[in-house]
Amino acid sequence: MEVSATAPGKIILFGEHAVVHGQPAIAVPLPAVCARAVVYRGRPGGQLMIIAANLARTIVVSATPHRSDHALAVACRLLVDYYRRPLPNFHVLVHSTIPVASGLGSGAAATTALLKALSQALELDIDLETLNALVYEIEKLYHGTPSGIDNTVVVYEQPVYFVRGQPIETFAIGQALHLVVADTGVPSPTHVAVHDVGVLYQQEPARIGAIFERIGDVSREARARIELGDAVALGGLMRENHALLRDLTVSSPLLDKLVAAAEASGAYGAKLSGGGRGGNLIALTPPEIADSIARVLLGAGAKRVIQTTLA
Ligand code: PMV
Repeated sequence: MEVSATAPGKIILFGEHAVVHGQPAIAVPLPAVCARAVVYRGRPGGQLMIIAANLARTIVVSATPHRSDHALAVACRLLVDYYRRPLPNFHVLVHSTIPVASGLGSGAAATTALLKALSQALELDIDLETLNALVYEIEKLYHGTPSGIDNTVVVYEQPVYFVRGQPIETFAIGQALHLVVADTGVPSPTHVAVHDVGVLYQQEPARIGAIFERIGDVSREARARIELGDAVALGGLMRENHALLRDLTVSSPLLDKLVAAAEASGAYGAKLSGGGRGGNLIALTPPEIADSIARVLLGAGAKRVIQTTLA
């Protein structure tokens, strides 16, 4: 019998980068794209193998750690070690519709789907808190010093108001909010941008610290506006957040161009989402012009758009 599990993509609405330095951030699941893991039971005496379809790669999970181990192999070992089980002889197919390295949570979703499917197949009664802690360990391999927001929103599959090291808070969305997510097609290695912002903070603690604090204020205000369903105010906050992220050096000419194009075409506001320098941006739009904004973004250089409604 096969067992399968999925995990959604995610988008950060407000607060990226500042969240690494203790400020609040807001993220929501993006179920339009997801990772899926399917477990097939292998022959007795066989090995645990992960077929990573998007990477066109088969990963054999060995009981002994090795420096070159793939993160998905490390994740499997982490799970079985936590529950003091031997490695099972499963074959696990992992595939994903989430674009890689674009700030939509592809790494966290692949790990989450894998661990959920394995836990089910092994009949481990894993709770979300434990799953989140294990996925966070793997996020560290991908990202260096992640805040934990990606794994949290992907594991809990709920909008989260996230402050590093604090219990997760979810919140209600007062009125449906329509977003166009646009991919620049430029890969964005989050750990590089996070590292650069950290260096900048060391060099100019007062100026950069003030930007982090202002971003924190924007996230707090945004949460209240999301709860009220106030799209106009949220658009203004997105503009401000984008400008602050530009000050942190994590925007790019293409992101700025796409953000400006969305705003000139009637979006309430737009901003980069995630690590920046590439990856994705989000535009908050009245639903009736969402299609035309999506076309404008594609015409201005976006490689792909996804529409989503937060409700
Ligand atoms: O994974 P990304 O590219 O969506 O970025 C995550 C958000 C950051 O704040 C830039 C990093 C982090 O760990 O919170």
